Amino acid sequence: MIYFDNAATSFPKPPFIAADIGEFLSTEAVNPGRSGFDLSLKAGQRIDKLRLRLARFFNHPSHDPDRVIFTPNATSALNIAIQGICEPGDHVVSTVLEHNSVLRPLHELQKFGIDHDLATCDERGFVEVDTIESLLKPNTKLVIVTHASNVLGTVQPVQAIGQLCKARGIHFLLDIAQTAGVVPVDMAAIGADLVAFTGHKGLMGPTGTGGLLVAGDGNLKITQWGGTGVRSAERDHLLEYPYRLEAGTLNTVGLVGLNSGLNWLANNGSAQVETELSTQLLQGLNDLPHTRILGLEKGETSILETHHTAVFSLLVQGFSPEKVGMILDVDWDMAVRTGLQCAPLAHAAMGTSEKGTVRVSLGPFNTPSEIDRLLDALESIK
Ligand SMILES: Cc1ncc(COP(=O)(O)O)c(C=O)c1O
Repeated sequence: MIYFDNAATSFPKPPFIAADIGEFLSTEAVNPGRSGFDLSLKAGQRIDKLRLRLARFFNHPSHDPDRVIFTPNATSALNIAIQGICEPGDHVVSTVLEHNSVLRPLHELQKFGIDHDLATCDERGFVEVDTIESLLKPNTKLVIVTHASNVLGTVQPVQAIGQLCKARGIHFLLDIAQTAGVVPVDMAAIGADLVAFTGHKGLMGPTGTGGLLVAGDGNLKITQWGGTGVRSAERDHLLEYPYRLEAGTLNTVGLVGLNSGLNWLANNGSAQVETELSTQLLQGLNDLPHTRILGLEKGETSILETHHTAVFSLLVQGFSPEKVGMILDVDWDMAVRTGLQCAPLAHAAMGTSEKGTVRVSLGPFNTPSEIDRLLDALESIK
């Protein structure tokens, strides 16, 4: 099988991750804690080291490991941030490019008197900072932007948006589900107050991992209460980070895998491979006039120049995306994602709401011969 669905989750994972997880499971996988027996302390230290590593990796402004909160995925991190910041009467500005992990919480919060407006994108799939600015109101408390669209791969001008939010004293929540491990994320330079990440895509970790980085002193409201493993006699949930926003047993097994994913990235990196494969794909598509990539012109072949990740929404003339996906799967044994990819408003903005697109998303383990095969397959669908 040829896998082109890395925007959903990276696959395969670097081989030693399974071995690292296996070893941890058989030797050390106890519940981590700051008090307790040796093995529990050791597991706790691993988790705390990973917090610091991620704080550095994303350049958290103070590199404070306690401000790296672990969650099961980006969705959970986004929910904790959104609900932790917003109060009835507040207003939120976000974008049409967001994943349902932002759109649905915002939709739900309307029932509690928290309103929002969504900035639209241009025909190439970019949201301009001026559009965000035009939507700000005196009661705007939070701006939420995805670093890169999971439909179009467009990398948004987040630094300019961060500066705008700083100047207006508005919290800025950045969703890096599509960029973590692929595009450098410098939380301090961007000026993001909150960064939600997922561990199972570009960071190469297993599913069930993700988190939220919290900058500054602004304390988020607690929206989940439970066990923290320390000071169990207290009836109130702990106020200090990281416990403040973590309740229940952490996915230590997954987090060990995430750490291994970071080890792999440190020695390999994936961006260059994906950039080269993208150029090969886009050059090949130039010769296939019955295909087009949403938001890109024929002849544009460098994702560095077009500010893209290696995620492409493809259309094949005369064939529905679903049909193309089926042919690729059945006849060519290739995995792509068709439809709306959990971001319906991005499709509405690009005019592809009805049937969506064929999303081809590359990863570090794709090869030039796999791209050739994809081009052969697309050549044959007409
Ligand atoms: C832009 C974006 N945000 C959030 C998410 C949600 O990530 P997770 O499934 O890890 O919760 C995704 C997943 O595809 C995404 O692409």
